[in-house]
Amino acid sequence: MRLLVTGGAGYIGSVVVNQLVEAGHEVAVIDRLSQGHRRAVDERAELVVADLADRASIDRVMASHRPEGILHFASQTLVGESMEKPFLHLGENVRNGLNLLESAAEHGVKRFILSSTANLFGLPDRVPIDEEAEIRPGSPYGESKRILERLLHWMDDRFGMRYASLRYFNAAGAVSPDRGEYHDPETHLIPVVLQVALGQREKVIVYGDDYDTPDGTCVRDYIHVSDLADAHVRALHALDGGSRTYNLGNGRGFSVREVIETARAVTGHPIPAVIGPRRPGDPAVLVAASDRIRRELGWEPSHDLREIIESAWAWHRANPHGYGARD
Ligand SMILES: NC(=O)c1ccc[n+]([C@@H]2O[C@H](COP(=O)([O-])OP(=O)(O)OC[C@H]3O[C@@H](n4cnc5c(N)ncnc54)[C@H](O)[C@@H]3O)[C@@H](O)[C@H]2O)c1
Repeated sequence: MRLLVTGGAGYIGSVVVNQLVEAGHEVAVIDRLSQGHRRAVDERAELVVADLADRASIDRVMASHRPEGILHFASQTLVGESMEKPFLHLGENVRNGLNLLESAAEHGVKRFILSSTANLFGLPDRVPIDEEAEIRPGSPYGESKRILERLLHWMDDRFGMRYASLRYFNAAGAVSPDRGEYHDPETHLIPVVLQVALGQREKVIVYGDDYDTPDGTCVRDYIHVSDLADAHVRALHALDGGSRTYNLGNGRGFSVREVIETARAVTGHPIPAVIGPRRPGDPAVLVAASDRIRRELGWEPSHDLREIIESAWAWHRANPHGYGARD
């Protein structure tokens, strides 16, 4: 297939681009390189450096590449920042999504995959969280993804555009020491912990140890980025059978303490940790029930926490400053 990947120079998008190219697809990437990196993009894919705010650029790529499907990763992604700057997240994510969808509809694109999020569920009533759980976004960021999910419903209804909304919990790990996670600022637990092991931070701050969990620290569901990428490829092929929504996680949670202890074992570094106050809005446990995608698409995550951290460590050690210069 000819595919367009937005945000394909970012962490998850770049891994998916690589897997799509490996599978024989022709891929064009749109990325403004605000968080992404030119070096992360598989050289067999065409990189167009453009902002999704610029509708004319999107139209040009649609006209020249004529994609049969779109995978939409480009986004404002920081949950905490979205609480401070709601218009940045709601405004950009929704407006850019509309630009992309309108252009896609005009160019007859019939397949669309959205990077959605566990933040749709805010403070969930029960875990593990399946697709029937009540949607109650925990932030303007989460709300922007909910709006995109609703827009996709109408794209299907009005234009027959089949979509898959993939709600990731926490993506982590690296596929090889050449392509991995590098955000500035970094807010995700595993890279933050590994930055301590690299000597780039003094310590990790654990946000609360008095939650109702086995060791008092928050429990999250980590999924290896290559397992996530595999889910995208499967979902893309399944779209002929209709639109669909999946929660994606390992189905097994790990506490902040377990992550730090595993990182200590993997790196051999003591990784000092101090307990800080809770962060407002942080649920005690966020774990996905991924039974639906397992059942319908035969998807099976194949990396445990230790492998996730080992692969992330191999990447960070080989590239302590990520991809180097911004571009
Ligand atoms: N990382 C996670 O654990 C996680 C969890 C849930 C959902 N998600 C979602 O997955 C997607 C990818 O996440 P990631 O961690 O790879 O993020 P990332 O920041 O590494 O990648 C996003 C990419 O989009 C590009 N981009 C942003 N705005 C753009 C715009 N207006 N025009 C063109 N390019 C733009 C950035 O330069 C970057 O390369 C996002 O939509 C995010 O909301 C991620």
